[in-house]
Amino acid sequence: MARVSMRVDGVTYTDEVEPRTLLVHHLREALGKVGTVVGCDTSNCGSCTVHLDGQAVKSCTVLAVQADGAEVTTIEGIAAPGGALHPVQKAFHEMHGLQCGFCTPGMIMASIDLLKDNPRPSEHEIREGIEGNLCRCTGYQNIVRAVQQAAGEMSGTTDTLGAQA
Ligand code: FES
Ligand code: FES
Repeated sequence: MARVSMRVDGVTYTDEVEPRTLLVHHLREALGKVGTVVGCDTSNCGSCTVHLDGQAVKSCTVLAVQADGAEVTTIEGIAAPGGALHPVQKAFHEMHGLQCGFCTPGMIMASIDLLKDNPRPSEHEIREGIEGNLCRCTGYQNIVRAVQQAAGEMSGTTDTLGAQA
C-alpha cells in the first residue's frame, strides 16, 4: 500500500491505496466522487475527465499515486460555493447539451479546460477540443452550441452563436 494525499474539490484527503489503483477508482470508491464516471475500459470515452493541477486528464489513465500532492477538480467541485452552476454547466442545461447525461461530466470538464486555454474558440476548435470525449447519444451539435454559449457568457459577450458560426 502507498500513502497518497491530494486536494480534491477543495478538501485534502490522505489515504492508503494499492499502487495499481487508478485515480478514477480512488475518486469514486474511496472519496465518493461518483459524479466522475467510467464509460469504457479502453481510455477512449473521456467520461472520467477531471482536472489534475488545472489540466484536463482522463482519470482512468492516471494512477492514484501519480496524483499524490496534486490538486484535483471533479465535476462535483465546479459549481460556486452557494450552489450556482458553473457557466458551462448552465449552458449545457440551457442548450440541451445532454441526453442520457453519461458523457456530460467529462464533456463539461474538457470544455472548461478548452475555454481556459481558448476563451473564444471557433466551432472547429470546440470540436477539436472535445474530440477525446465520446457521446454515445451523438448529441454533439447541442454540446458544441453549449460550449459556444458558455464562451460568450464567460468572456462577457452575448453574440455567441452568431459569432461562432
Ligand atoms: S473511462 Fe476513462 S476514457 Fe473512458
Ligand atoms: S448524452 Fe448520452 S452519452 Fe452523451
